[in-house]
Amino acid sequence: MAEQESKHYDVTMQEEECFYPPVEFIGQANCTDPSIYERFSLENFPECFKEHADLLDWDDYWHTTLDTSDAPCWKWFVGGKLNVCHNCVDRHLQQHRNKTAIYFVPELEEERIQKITYQELYRRVNETAAILRDFAGLKAGDRVTLHLPMTPELPITMLACARLGVIHSEVFSGFSGKACADRIWDSESEVLITMDAYYRSGNLIDHKSKADEAVEAADKQGQKVNKVLIWQRYPGTYNGEQSIVEGRDYFMNDLLQQYKGSEVEPVSMPAEEPLFLMYTSGSTGRPKGCVHSTGGYLAYVAWMSKYVQDIHPEDVYWCMADIGWITGHSFIVYGPLAVAGSTVIYEGVPTYPDPGRPWRVAEELGVNIFHTSPTAIRGLRKAGGDLPLQYNHQFKHMTTVGEPIEPEVWRWYYNVVGKGKAVVVDTWWMTETGGFLCSTMPAVDPMKPGSAGPGLPGIYPVVLDDEGKEIQPGENRAGNLCIRNPWPGGMQSIWKNRERYVKTYYSPYNKDPNSTDWRDWPYMAGDAAVIASDNYVRILGRVDDVLNVAGHRLGTKEIESAALTVDEVAEAAVVSVQDEVKGTVPDLYVSLKPGEEPSEDLARRISTAVSDVVGKIARPAHVYIVADMPKTRSGKIMRRILASISNRKDVGDVMTLANPHIVEEIRQQVQG
Ligand code: WT7
Repeated sequence: MAEQESKHYDVTMQEEECFYPPVEFIGQANCTDPSIYERFSLENFPECFKEHADLLDWDDYWHTTLDTSDAPCWKWFVGGKLNVCHNCVDRHLQQHRNKTAIYFVPELEEERIQKITYQELYRRVNETAAILRDFAGLKAGDRVTLHLPMTPELPITMLACARLGVIHSEVFSGFSGKACADRIWDSESEVLITMDAYYRSGNLIDHKSKADEAVEAADKQGQKVNKVLIWQRYPGTYNGEQSIVEGRDYFMNDLLQQYKGSEVEPVSMPAEEPLFLMYTSGSTGRPKGCVHSTGGYLAYVAWMSKYVQDIHPEDVYWCMADIGWITGHSFIVYGPLAVAGSTVIYEGVPTYPDPGRPWRVAEELGVNIFHTSPTAIRGLRKAGGDLPLQYNHQFKHMTTVGEPIEPEVWRWYYNVVGKGKAVVVDTWWMTETGGFLCSTMPAVDPMKPGSAGPGLPGIYPVVLDDEGKEIQPGENRAGNLCIRNPWPGGMQSIWKNRERYVKTYYSPYNKDPNSTDWRDWPYMAGDAAVIASDNYVRILGRVDDVLNVAGHRLGTKEIESAALTVDEVAEAAVVSVQDEVKGTVPDLYVSLKPGEEPSEDLARRISTAVSDVVGKIARPAHVYIVADMPKTRSGKIMRRILASISNRKDVGDVMTLANPHIVEEIRQQVQG
């Protein structure tokens, strides 16, 4: 751990009061048995994970639950064969043929909501698979890049790939053509599947031109794309700006005419073959292609969907993430469909045309399970304080995921969105992990605002200091969050880069690189965390988000949560600024709820709140009240840009942000 400093820091956040799962929820939950943790004890590892695999249909049952011979590349359910598309579609036809599998909610409110039954999904997936196999020539093991927005054609294409054993690599539609090209190149895809256009904030925006850029840029890098398959937002009408390239570009809608009624036999795949790649950014520039498996991954997300998301076939489940991220793969598509759920796909932004939209959708469709991120929750809270109370939706279960959630914001989610009647799970995991690692079991454990909860059954989190020594639960010291044991949903490797995989996640705490004992290979997540005496894990943020003020490390979230205790504050982001005396000091950026006015007095109160809640050491050098935060298109606050402004450094390229203009405004405010 040479590159990291070996100082530890004391955690000053106070313990939050617990909330208990509502009895109505417990009465219907899929898991209410506290002894589940014993069933998944380390003594029962790895065989306990048979329970996950048994949720699936297997063509051949496996002979080895966990094979560690190529550690730390773990192989689960070895010898088993299955097809993911069969498990998510075909096997449900008998009982759920006419049940809605997918609700598609277009962004335009006047456009009809589409209901796709399991029968209809079966037909559309088969016809699509026939095109991919017979027209595009794709076969098991080939990679194909998808650059698709949030419409049903995205899961249909993913499932068609899965039916054939073709490895899909979906690139988030908000990413540029250039970013798409990097992923085409890395995965060596010869086919790109895209859509002509989609809605964003009320406008039908062109998407096809990104495919042209991507193909051109990939070609320069040496990867030739032979075919571009284009779904149309309105079948039969082309809304792209660029013309069609003869002999390369094909409309799916035209091809479908020839493949009407086609059926494609699902290809029985070894459990250990990859199902998909999901690229994610690391500390270096080049994105990492996380390789997710067929059997282990599907078993894991199916179990999580049934027991942590508590999805029953009669539920209507809405995860507001984008399928272009891992959350969408695992918890819009594969997990919910594996357990015969009804999953909602919403095309657009949550606040279009107004912040009441999510609650109207929930009312209309009878959504009873809701899943979103702290950023979205803060946005909705900022846009309209009590608005959800004016709607008649009623959730039984809500999820928060992706970032630490400030206790103030958690309580708003619980009281206002959930009306105090829904259980909340704060699920901690990563692109690399395939599914949840830490969360409360919703009908078993109390909820603690701001804490993810304990390791899920069969998952053993531990916090290690930089020397590899365990920090005990309740010690009130933070360190590097690790998982002691492998689990079936974990990535198999980084595509074509085993070395980077081992180095990033496993080398930091491995003492014997030749060991094939999983106990020698703790997985290092890259998050700083503290484990309380009740084993609840509180995530402080990525290790690179940790501030070091005068030799004390402080979690950015501790300071931000403190700022959020001031009533007027909607969002807060803290960055570290070079300081001659103290090394670094925190600068705090905040945005206010609508109708609130910035003032020096308010800035002072925020500053006082931080030093009151966290300690004087955390008192911000400056509090900047800004009109809005610079954000990525996926809604994450770009602290890096704020840090550059505070440190008077070049902010770099900001054009990929959702709101690039705000950067210059903030720069002038801060630097004059
Ligand atoms: C990072 C992974 C897989 C979820 C979507 C993000 C942060 C994730 C939580 C949570 C606090 C969280 C971590 C993690 N994170 N969930 N419940 N509480 N932080 O996936 O883009 O791969 O990011 O998101 O810092 O390392 P990702």
